[in-house]
Amino acid sequence: MPILTGHARLAGIIGWPVAHSRSPRLHGFWLERHAIDGAYVPLAVRPEDFATAVRGLAASGFAGANVTLPHKRAAFALCDSVEPSAQHAGAVNTLVFRDGRINGSNTDGWGFLANLRAHGVNPAAGPVLLLGAGGAARAIAAALLEAGVGVTVANRTLTHARALAADLPGLRVLDWEQRNEALPDHALLVNATSLGMQDHPPLEIDLDYAPASLAVADIVYVPLATPLLAAASARGLRTVEGLGMLLYQAVPGFRAWFGVEPQVDAALRKFVAADLLAQ
Ligand code: ATR
Repeated sequence: MPILTGHARLAGIIGWPVAHSRSPRLHGFWLERHAIDGAYVPLAVRPEDFATAVRGLAASGFAGANVTLPHKRAAFALCDSVEPSAQHAGAVNTLVFRDGRINGSNTDGWGFLANLRAHGVNPAAGPVLLLGAGGAARAIAAALLEAGVGVTVANRTLTHARALAADLPGLRVLDWEQRNEALPDHALLVNATSLGMQDHPPLEIDLDYAPASLAVADIVYVPLATPLLAAASARGLRTVEGLGMLLYQAVPGFRAWFGVEPQVDAALRKFVAADLLAQ
């Protein structure tokens, strides 16, 4: 931890709880790499204190903050202005304080796309079969549709998928039970459910239906190699691991707060992954 001066730039992550967050470690790596006079701190804020805390940070000279569960929708409501990314996702994960105003954006979808490209997967190669209808799925669907990519969503609870489609014109909805048969019509499969996460059941999907050209992405990153990604790799399918989305979604915030374009590279990945393996 460098010694700060009176000019230090400040940012952090607001969550409840926040102790599990990897963001302080991730931003701390970049701060150290670039020898920046600044800090990125965990901010444990109860839901009922959220608005007071955000306004307090802005009034205290913070450059901005990330927002995580359960505050992403509250952040959207609090902002003075929001970027289209947040408008489409209905949630904010990145706040920038400037001239007494609070601006919000959602970098999850951008992070997802950047991670795909970093793995050599062109999101525009063909339609995407997206599993899940939670906050992460919403941000991903919005970013894909914005990029002109066709998206089919399948979710255990059909009404949740329909609610997503009502907000995102162009989104196709499929019954959860149809997910196997739908694989041949898609270029990319994305797991945006919590299935496959440590202490959760694995995603059940029959990759016998997968065409050889299918790429498979998971947003789950604990474990790094989910059962889905392991099964896809074993078949020779291209895979995209979830950790990269976490790393890339942090880039726009860091750039806005600290004025440096940070790189997602093997050293950063190793540094953050080591922490995941240590838990
Ligand atoms: P996040 O906001 O992080 O995406 P979430 O809102 O809790 O997380 O979403 C979890 C997703 O995993 C949902 O799509 C959920 O499906 P439901 O809408 O039916 O709840 C999905 N999910 C969780 N457990 C599941 C299970 N056992 N089988 C199928 N889908 C599951």
